[in-house]
Amino acid sequence: MSRLRRVELHWPTDNTVLAGEENYFTLLRGDTVHVLASRCPHRGGPLRLGAVQDGRLRCPWHGNSFRVDRLCARGVPAIQRGDRVIAYVPVEDQETPVASNTLIFAE
Ligand code: FES
Repeated sequence: MSRLRRVELHWPTDNTVLAGEENYFTLLRGDTVHVLASRCPHRGGPLRLGAVQDGRLRCPWHGNSFRVDRLCARGVPAIQRGDRVIAYVPVEDQETPVASNTLIFAE
């Protein structure tokens, strides 16, 4: 049975969450940090490794792109307090979500 569980990220150092076999990633839009599911709706590709351009996030697997505003609207519940982001991600009963910093961005 799936339920939401709290995870705290130290923003911007932490930029991903692993919850069971699901990955989530942070995306800064304006002044708001969103926490989004990484699984691409097309065939499950890693959206966290995609690139944002012109308001769209392009999946690295097949190149489909998705409107960032729509992705953010479907993000998990998250609250930002200074350098902390508290998010609630779906997990199975025995799973504990873990924040990490597995994304490295090129300058
Ligand atoms: S898996 Fe993302 S475009 Fe195909």
